[in-house]
Amino acid sequence: EAGAVLLASVHLRHIIPLDFDSIDYAPQPDAPHVASSVESEDAQPCLPTIDLESPLAESSLVRACESWGMFIVTNHGIPTDVLEGVEGDALRFFSLPKEDKMKALRAPGGTIGYGVAPLAAVLDKAMWHEGFTMIGSPVEHAKQVWPRDYMRFCETMEEYQKRMKTLSEKILGLLLKNCGGLPSFHESGGPSTTLQLNSYPACQCPKEIFGLAPHTDTSFITIIQQSNVSGLQLFHERHGWISVSPKTGSLVVNVGDMLHIMSNARFLNALHRVTVSRTWHRLSFAYFYGPPADFEVSPIVKTHASGSHQAARFRPVTKREYIRMKNQDPDALSKIKITRE
Ligand code: SIN
Ligand code: FE2
Repeated sequence: EAGAVLLASVHLRHIIPLDFDSIDYAPQPDAPHVASSVESEDAQPCLPTIDLESPLAESSLVRACESWGMFIVTNHGIPTDVLEGVEGDALRFFSLPKEDKMKALRAPGGTIGYGVAPLAAVLDKAMWHEGFTMIGSPVEHAKQVWPRDYMRFCETMEEYQKRMKTLSEKILGLLLKNCGGLPSFHESGGPSTTLQLNSYPACQCPKEIFGLAPHTDTSFITIIQQSNVSGLQLFHERHGWISVSPKTGSLVVNVGDMLHIMSNARFLNALHRVTVSRTWHRLSFAYFYGPPADFEVSPIVKTHASGSHQAARFRPVTKREYIRMKNQDPDALSKIKITRE
Protein backbone atom coordinates (compact mmCIF):
# COMPACT_ATOMS: atom_id res chain seq x y z
CA GLU A 1 0.00 0.00 0.00
CA ALA A 2 2.71 2.46 -0.93
CA GLY A 3 1.52 6.01 -0.65
CA ALA A 4 -1.46 5.17 1.52
CA VAL A 5 -2.05 7.76 4.13
CA LEU A 6 -3.56 7.37 7.52
CA LEU A 7 -4.60 10.19 9.70
CA ALA A 8 -4.58 10.24 13.41
CA SER A 9 -5.37 12.74 16.07
CA VAL A 10 -2.38 13.29 18.26
CA HIS A 11 -3.69 16.15 20.31
CA LEU A 12 -7.15 17.27 21.21
CA ARG A 13 -8.63 19.16 18.29
CA HIS A 14 -5.45 19.01 16.18
CA ILE A 15 -6.02 16.76 13.24
CA ILE A 16 -2.61 15.97 11.83
CA PRO A 17 -2.04 13.76 8.79
CA LEU A 18 0.30 10.90 9.56
CA ASP A 19 2.10 8.70 7.12
CA PHE A 20 1.15 5.05 7.08
CA ASP A 21 4.62 4.11 8.30
CA SER A 22 4.73 6.49 11.21
CA ILE A 23 1.70 5.11 13.08
CA ASP A 24 2.76 3.84 16.45
CA TYR A 25 1.82 0.16 16.65
CA ALA A 26 2.22 -0.13 20.41
CA PRO A 27 -0.87 -1.75 21.93
CA GLN A 28 -3.04 0.82 23.64
CA PRO A 29 -3.75 0.07 27.29
CA ASP A 30 -7.51 -0.12 26.76
CA ALA A 31 -7.32 -2.07 23.53
CA PRO A 32 -5.87 -5.44 24.46
CA HIS A 33 -6.40 -7.77 21.52
CA VAL A 34 -9.26 -5.81 20.14
CA ALA A 35 -10.55 -8.27 17.59
CA SER A 36 -10.14 -11.46 19.57
CA SER A 37 -12.31 -10.18 22.41
CA VAL A 38 -15.36 -11.04 20.35
CA GLU A 39 -16.64 -14.62 20.46
CA SER A 40 -17.07 -16.58 17.27
CA GLU A 41 -19.77 -15.02 15.15
CA ASP A 42 -22.22 -17.96 15.25
CA ALA A 43 -22.35 -17.92 19.03
CA GLN A 44 -23.49 -14.33 19.01
CA PRO A 45 -26.90 -12.91 19.65
CA CYS A 46 -28.33 -11.10 16.62
CA LEU A 47 -29.45 -7.53 16.52
CA PRO A 48 -33.12 -7.11 15.67
CA THR A 49 -33.86 -6.72 11.96
CA ILE A 50 -36.89 -4.55 11.32
CA ASP A 51 -38.95 -4.47 8.14
CA LEU A 52 -40.00 -0.83 7.88
CA GLU A 53 -43.00 -1.73 5.74
CA SER A 54 -44.38 -4.12 8.32
CA PRO A 55 -47.42 -3.05 10.36
CA LEU A 56 -45.37 -4.01 13.43
CA ALA A 57 -42.54 -1.63 12.54
CA GLU A 58 -43.41 0.95 15.18
CA SER A 59 -43.46 -1.42 18.15
CA SER A 60 -40.38 -3.30 16.90
CA LEU A 61 -38.45 -0.04 16.60
CA VAL A 62 -39.41 1.01 20.12
CA ARG A 63 -38.42 -2.36 21.55
CA ALA A 64 -35.10 -2.40 19.67
CA CYS A 65 -34.20 1.05 21.01
CA GLU A 66 -35.15 0.05 24.55
CA SER A 67 -33.06 -3.09 24.61
CA TRP A 68 -30.26 -2.56 22.06
CA GLY A 69 -29.95 1.06 20.96
CA MET A 70 -29.02 -0.34 17.54
CA PHE A 71 -30.91 -2.32 14.90
CA ILE A 72 -30.95 -3.27 11.22
CA VAL A 73 -33.60 -2.01 8.81
CA THR A 74 -34.86 -3.59 5.61
CA ASN A 75 -37.53 -2.32 3.20
CA HIS A 76 -36.23 1.15 3.93
CA GLY A 77 -37.11 2.51 0.50
CA ILE A 78 -33.59 3.59 -0.53
CA PRO A 79 -33.00 2.30 -4.08
CA THR A 80 -30.05 -0.03 -4.62
CA ASP A 81 -28.45 2.33 -7.13
CA VAL A 82 -28.38 5.10 -4.51
CA LEU A 83 -26.66 2.77 -2.00
CA GLU A 84 -24.20 1.52 -4.60
CA GLY A 85 -23.62 5.02 -5.91
CA VAL A 86 -22.29 6.32 -2.61
CA GLU A 87 -20.08 3.28 -2.18
CA GLY A 88 -18.65 3.66 -5.71
CA ASP A 89 -17.92 7.36 -5.37
CA ALA A 90 -16.48 6.98 -1.87
CA LEU A 91 -14.13 4.30 -3.16
CA ARG A 92 -13.21 6.57 -6.08
CA PHE A 93 -12.26 9.27 -3.57
CA PHE A 94 -10.37 7.09 -1.07
CA SER A 95 -8.45 5.34 -3.88
CA LEU A 96 -6.93 8.62 -5.03
CA PRO A 97 -3.24 9.22 -4.38
CA LYS A 98 -2.46 10.89 -1.08
CA GLU A 99 -1.63 14.24 -2.74
CA ASP A 100 -5.08 14.41 -4.30
CA LYS A 101 -6.95 13.60 -1.10
CA MET A 102 -4.92 16.23 0.72
CA LYS A 103 -6.47 18.84 -1.58
CA ALA A 104 -9.72 18.24 0.31
CA LEU A 105 -8.09 18.41 3.75
CA ARG A 106 -10.32 19.76 6.51
CA ALA A 107 -9.47 23.30 7.61
CA PRO A 108 -7.97 23.51 11.13
CA GLY A 109 -10.84 23.45 13.62
CA GLY A 110 -13.34 22.82 10.82
CA THR A 111 -15.83 19.98 10.38
CA ILE A 112 -16.06 19.26 6.66
CA GLY A 113 -13.51 17.72 4.32
CA TYR A 114 -10.87 15.01 4.49
CA GLY A 115 -9.40 13.90 7.82
CA VAL A 116 -10.14 11.55 10.69
CA ALA A 117 -13.76 11.45 11.89
CA PRO A 118 -14.39 14.67 13.84
CA LEU A 119 -15.09 12.56 16.93
CA ALA A 120 -11.36 11.81 17.05
CA ALA A 121 -11.02 15.14 18.82
CA VAL A 122 -13.07 13.67 21.68
CA LEU A 123 -11.33 10.31 21.79
CA ASP A 124 -7.77 11.56 21.40
CA LYS A 125 -6.43 8.20 20.25
CA ALA A 126 -4.63 7.10 17.13
CA MET A 127 -7.11 5.27 14.91
CA TRP A 128 -6.70 3.34 11.66
CA HIS A 129 -9.08 5.47 9.72
CA GLU A 130 -9.49 8.18 7.14
CA GLY A 131 -12.74 10.04 6.53
CA PHE A 132 -14.52 12.60 4.43
CA THR A 133 -17.17 14.69 6.16
CA MET A 134 -19.86 16.77 4.49
CA ILE A 135 -22.82 18.89 5.47
CA GLY A 136 -24.96 19.31 2.36
CA SER A 137 -23.05 19.71 -0.88
CA PRO A 138 -19.35 18.71 -0.81
CA VAL A 139 -18.74 21.02 -3.78
CA GLU A 140 -16.11 23.19 -2.13
CA HIS A 141 -13.78 20.23 -1.58
CA ALA A 142 -14.79 18.20 -4.64
CA LYS A 143 -13.78 21.11 -6.89
CA GLN A 144 -10.28 21.01 -5.45
CA VAL A 145 -9.98 17.29 -6.05
CA TRP A 146 -11.67 16.99 -9.45
CA PRO A 147 -11.62 20.48 -11.02
CA ARG A 148 -13.24 19.27 -14.26
CA ASP A 149 -15.37 16.45 -12.97
CA TYR A 150 -16.70 17.30 -9.51
CA MET A 151 -20.43 17.24 -10.31
CA ARG A 152 -20.85 13.49 -10.27
CA PHE A 153 -19.47 13.15 -6.74
CA CYS A 154 -21.62 16.06 -5.56
CA GLU A 155 -24.81 14.72 -7.11
CA THR A 156 -24.28 11.28 -5.60
CA MET A 157 -23.66 12.70 -2.12
CA GLU A 158 -26.53 15.20 -2.26
CA GLU A 159 -29.02 12.57 -3.41
CA TYR A 160 -27.86 10.20 -0.67
CA GLN A 161 -28.28 12.86 2.02
CA LYS A 162 -31.76 13.75 0.77
CA ARG A 163 -32.84 10.10 0.97
CA MET A 164 -31.23 9.62 4.40
CA LYS A 165 -32.98 12.70 5.78
CA THR A 166 -36.38 11.37 4.71
CA LEU A 167 -35.56 7.95 6.17
CA SER A 168 -34.31 9.44 9.46
CA GLU A 169 -37.53 11.42 9.84
CA LYS A 170 -39.63 8.36 9.07
CA ILE A 171 -37.83 6.30 11.73
CA LEU A 172 -37.89 9.08 14.33
CA GLY A 173 -41.54 9.78 13.54
CA LEU A 174 -42.42 6.15 14.31
CA LEU A 175 -40.24 6.03 17.43
CA LEU A 176 -41.77 9.18 18.87
CA LYS A 177 -45.33 8.64 17.66
CA ASN A 178 -46.54 7.86 21.15
CA CYS A 179 -45.07 10.98 22.69
CA GLY A 180 -46.00 13.80 20.37
CA GLY A 181 -43.92 12.92 17.31
CA LEU A 182 -40.67 14.44 16.10
CA PRO A 183 -40.58 18.16 17.01
CA SER A 184 -40.58 20.55 14.08
CA PHE A 185 -37.16 22.16 13.79
CA HIS A 186 -38.36 24.53 11.15
CA GLU A 187 -38.10 27.65 13.28
CA SER A 188 -34.69 26.72 14.66
CA GLY A 189 -33.13 26.40 11.22
CA GLY A 190 -33.81 22.74 10.50
CA PRO A 191 -32.17 19.58 11.85
CA SER A 192 -28.39 19.27 11.83
CA THR A 193 -27.30 16.55 9.45
CA THR A 194 -23.87 15.26 8.45
CA LEU A 195 -22.66 12.56 6.09
CA GLN A 196 -19.40 10.90 7.06
CA LEU A 197 -17.59 8.60 4.60
CA ASN A 198 -15.24 6.25 6.48
CA SER A 199 -12.33 4.22 5.10
CA TYR A 200 -10.39 1.64 7.10
CA PRO A 201 -7.51 0.25 5.01
CA ALA A 202 -6.18 -3.23 5.71
CA CYS A 203 -3.83 -3.09 8.68
CA GLN A 204 -0.79 -5.22 9.57
CA CYS A 205 -1.53 -5.18 13.29
CA PRO A 206 -5.32 -5.29 13.48
CA LYS A 207 -5.38 -6.47 17.09
CA GLU A 208 -3.53 -3.48 18.36
CA ILE A 209 -5.39 -0.55 16.94
CA PHE A 210 -9.03 0.43 16.51
CA GLY A 211 -10.60 1.70 13.33
CA LEU A 212 -12.71 3.86 15.61
CA ALA A 213 -12.35 3.68 19.38
CA PRO A 214 -15.50 3.00 21.48
CA HIS A 215 -17.90 5.95 21.46
CA THR A 216 -21.52 7.00 21.39
CA ASP A 217 -22.82 9.36 18.70
CA THR A 218 -24.22 12.78 19.61
CA SER A 219 -27.06 12.55 17.05
CA PHE A 220 -30.70 11.58 17.59
CA ILE A 221 -30.04 8.66 15.27
CA THR A 222 -27.27 7.61 12.88
CA ILE A 223 -27.89 5.50 9.78
CA ILE A 224 -24.90 3.41 8.69
CA GLN A 225 -24.30 1.67 5.39
CA GLN A 226 -21.40 -0.80 5.48
CA SER A 227 -19.39 -2.24 2.61
CA ASN A 228 -19.15 -6.01 2.64
CA VAL A 229 -16.49 -6.23 5.38
CA SER A 230 -17.15 -6.74 9.11
CA GLY A 231 -15.76 -4.36 11.70
CA LEU A 232 -18.62 -2.58 13.43
CA GLN A 233 -19.29 -3.79 16.97
CA LEU A 234 -21.89 -2.87 19.57
CA PHE A 235 -21.47 -3.12 23.33
CA HIS A 236 -24.40 -4.71 25.09
CA GLU A 237 -24.62 -4.89 28.86
CA ARG A 238 -25.40 -8.58 28.91
CA HIS A 239 -23.55 -9.85 25.84
CA GLY A 240 -20.43 -7.68 25.77
CA TRP A 241 -19.07 -6.67 22.35
CA ILE A 242 -21.02 -8.14 19.47
CA SER A 243 -20.35 -7.88 15.72
CA VAL A 244 -22.81 -6.10 13.51
CA SER A 245 -22.09 -7.87 10.24
CA PRO A 246 -22.96 -6.20 6.94
CA LYS A 247 -25.96 -7.53 5.03
CA THR A 248 -26.29 -6.34 1.46
CA GLY A 249 -29.11 -3.87 1.00
CA SER A 250 -29.84 -3.38 4.71
CA LEU A 251 -28.88 -0.43 6.86
CA VAL A 252 -27.80 -0.18 10.49
CA VAL A 253 -29.45 2.43 12.71
CA ASN A 254 -28.18 3.49 16.10
CA VAL A 255 -29.49 5.75 18.83
CA GLY A 256 -27.29 8.71 19.79
CA ASP A 257 -27.02 10.75 22.98
CA MET A 258 -29.63 13.33 21.96
CA LEU A 259 -32.39 10.73 21.56
CA HIS A 260 -31.28 9.04 24.77
CA ILE A 261 -31.80 12.37 26.54
CA MET A 262 -35.07 13.19 24.79
CA SER A 263 -36.48 9.73 25.58
CA ASN A 264 -35.54 10.23 29.24
CA ALA A 265 -33.05 7.33 29.02
CA ARG A 266 -35.70 4.92 27.72
CA PHE A 267 -33.83 4.47 24.44
CA LEU A 268 -30.22 3.32 24.83
CA ASN A 269 -27.46 5.32 23.21
CA ALA A 270 -25.38 2.67 21.48
CA LEU A 271 -21.75 2.32 22.55
CA HIS A 272 -19.96 1.11 19.43
CA ARG A 273 -16.50 0.77 17.93
CA VAL A 274 -14.85 -0.37 14.71
CA THR A 275 -12.11 -2.98 14.37
CA VAL A 276 -9.83 -3.29 11.36
CA SER A 277 -8.88 -6.24 9.19
CA ARG A 278 -5.48 -7.53 8.21
CA THR A 279 -6.77 -8.36 4.73
CA TRP A 280 -9.69 -6.17 3.77
CA HIS A 281 -10.22 -2.51 3.18
CA ARG A 282 -13.55 -1.55 4.73
CA LEU A 283 -15.79 1.40 3.88
CA SER A 284 -18.80 2.70 5.75
CA PHE A 285 -21.10 5.70 5.38
CA ALA A 286 -22.68 7.23 8.45
CA TYR A 287 -25.49 9.78 8.26
CA PHE A 288 -26.07 11.69 11.48
CA TYR A 289 -29.46 13.31 12.10
CA GLY A 290 -29.64 15.59 15.13
CA PRO A 291 -31.39 18.65 16.52
CA PRO A 292 -30.40 22.16 15.42
CA ALA A 293 -27.35 23.29 17.40
CA ASP A 294 -29.29 25.73 19.58
CA PHE A 295 -32.50 23.76 20.00
CA GLU A 296 -33.06 22.83 23.62
CA VAL A 297 -33.50 19.08 23.96
CA SER A 298 -35.34 18.04 27.09
CA PRO A 299 -36.65 14.68 28.26
CA ILE A 300 -40.19 13.84 27.24
CA VAL A 301 -41.70 12.53 30.48
CA LYS A 302 -44.68 10.24 30.78
CA THR A 303 -47.76 11.25 32.70
CA HIS A 304 -49.05 8.42 34.86
CA ALA A 305 -52.74 7.55 35.06
CA SER A 306 -52.86 9.31 38.43
CA GLY A 307 -51.80 12.55 36.73
CA SER A 308 -48.32 12.59 38.25
CA HIS A 309 -45.29 12.87 35.99
CA GLN A 310 -42.35 10.57 35.64
CA ALA A 311 -39.26 12.41 36.88
CA ALA A 312 -36.92 13.90 34.27
CA ARG A 313 -33.49 12.27 34.40
CA PHE A 314 -31.62 15.01 32.56
CA ARG A 315 -31.70 18.76 32.52
CA PRO A 316 -32.44 20.38 29.15
CA VAL A 317 -29.40 20.89 26.95
CA THR A 318 -28.61 22.17 23.46
CA LYS A 319 -26.44 20.12 21.15
CA ARG A 320 -23.93 22.96 21.03
CA GLU A 321 -23.53 22.97 24.80
CA TYR A 322 -23.48 19.18 24.97
CA ILE A 323 -20.71 18.89 22.35
CA ARG A 324 -18.64 21.42 24.24
CA MET A 325 -18.95 19.26 27.37
CA LYS A 326 -18.28 16.02 25.46
CA ASN A 327 -15.11 17.46 23.94
CA GLN A 328 -13.83 17.87 27.47
CA ASP A 329 -15.13 14.58 28.82
CA PRO A 330 -16.73 11.79 26.74
CA ASP A 331 -19.03 11.08 29.68
CA ALA A 332 -20.94 14.33 29.20
CA LEU A 333 -24.22 12.64 30.13
CA SER A 334 -23.23 12.45 33.76
CA LYS A 335 -22.91 16.23 33.76
CA ILE A 336 -26.55 16.77 32.87
CA LYS A 337 -27.99 13.93 34.95
CA ILE A 338 -30.47 14.95 37.61
CA THR A 339 -29.75 13.00 40.75
CA ARG A 340 -32.34 12.61 43.44
CA GLU A 341 -32.10 11.37 46.97
C1 SIN B 1 -19.22 5.30 13.10
O1 SIN B 1 -19.22 5.00 14.28
O2 SIN B 1 -19.68 6.37 12.70
C2 SIN B 1 -18.64 4.37 12.05
C3 SIN B 1 -19.38 3.10 11.95
C4 SIN B 1 -18.78 2.15 10.98
O3 SIN B 1 -17.69 2.35 10.41
O4 SIN B 1 -19.41 1.11 10.76
FE1 FE2 C 1 -20.37 6.31 15.60
